[in-house]
Amino acid sequence: MNDDGQKRDAPATPHASRLTPDDPVDSVVAAFREEAGRGVSSRSDFERLKGRYLGREKGLVPALFAGIRDVPPEGRAAFGARANAAKKEIEEAVALLSQALERREVEARQAAEAVDVTLPGRRARAGGLHPVTIVRRRIEQIFLRMGYSIADGPELENDRHNFEALNFPPEHPARDSQDSFFVDRKAASPLLLRTHTSPVQIRELARRGAPLRVIAPGRVYRNESVDATHAAVFHQVEGLVVERGISMADLKGTIEEFFAALFGPETKARFIPTFFPFVEPGADVAASCIFCKGRGCAKCKQSGWIELAGAGAVHPNVLTACGVDPEEYTGFAFGLGLDRVAMLLYGFPDLRLLLEGDERFLSQFASEA
Ligand code: DAH
Repeated sequence: MNDDGQKRDAPATPHASRLTPDDPVDSVVAAFREEAGRGVSSRSDFERLKGRYLGREKGLVPALFAGIRDVPPEGRAAFGARANAAKKEIEEAVALLSQALERREVEARQAAEAVDVTLPGRRARAGGLHPVTIVRRRIEQIFLRMGYSIADGPELENDRHNFEALNFPPEHPARDSQDSFFVDRKAASPLLLRTHTSPVQIRELARRGAPLRVIAPGRVYRNESVDATHAAVFHQVEGLVVERGISMADLKGTIEEFFAALFGPETKARFIPTFFPFVEPGADVAASCIFCKGRGCAKCKQSGWIELAGAGAVHPNVLTACGVDPEEYTGFAFGLGLDRVAMLLYGFPDLRLLLEGDERFLSQFASEA
């Protein structure tokens, strides 16, 4: 015995010594038994074995029959009978080997394809609403409760609604603050992607007249260089109230109410005078920082305030452009940056996350809706 437990001198064909070298039938049968006894490990192994013995061209069994010619006539019948018996034995053994091989193949296939029915199933993950959609819906609910209706306008706007009727005269420098994507400059009123939701003020007021109380959420476009706090595509919510006797006090009260509903009851609103052509007076509106409650922190750059909106009393020229008599009606308007509100509420640092569609970011909001 050597190391691996085999007899070193075992002859390759143990029965070789018992073969009658002169008898081809015996030697073919003996060789076959020996080989078949070792079994076949694969389909190709089997095909080689089968071919070697039964192959039509070079098989050892057909060769036996071809050799009948060389047998003396008186021995041919017996030789033929023995050759036939050998052929039958070999064919039957080959058939059995084939069946056994097939069984093994089926078993192997089944083992490979086996399903472990005790494994827990893979859950299909439910999608969720986009954070901007969640915030938009919350804001809509707040204003619906205050008696507003929700309006919509086209994202492909014309110059008349986006600028002119909002009291931006042609060539007025205030247009520079809203660098636009023009689509057709040659149209009677040039076409552009709307730079703010304020044109919906014009469309709604011209269509429905006063009194009017609407908000208009939507997507807007500016030719901005993109960074963590600037995007070329973002969202606003416009608000417009035109009724008899409306004043800046109504605007302040409304914004305070809105901030309290969205950010919490202790939230304050701050108005700083500024210029927008379509309001007079106009204001930049900030909310007291929801992180430090106005004491000053990194999020609000130590100011205690976070700027979120522009607002003001509707300019008489806007009312006139919409066919509303400014002597009879007054109003207020505001425009709120929706993406910034989402950033604030969910505390993420980069506006671009809202546009990238990264599932790792978006899935964090799936349970919110
Ligand atoms: N449309 C302005 C902008 O996008 C924001 C704005 C300011 C809207 C004042 C208003 C408003 O309705 O009264 O910069």
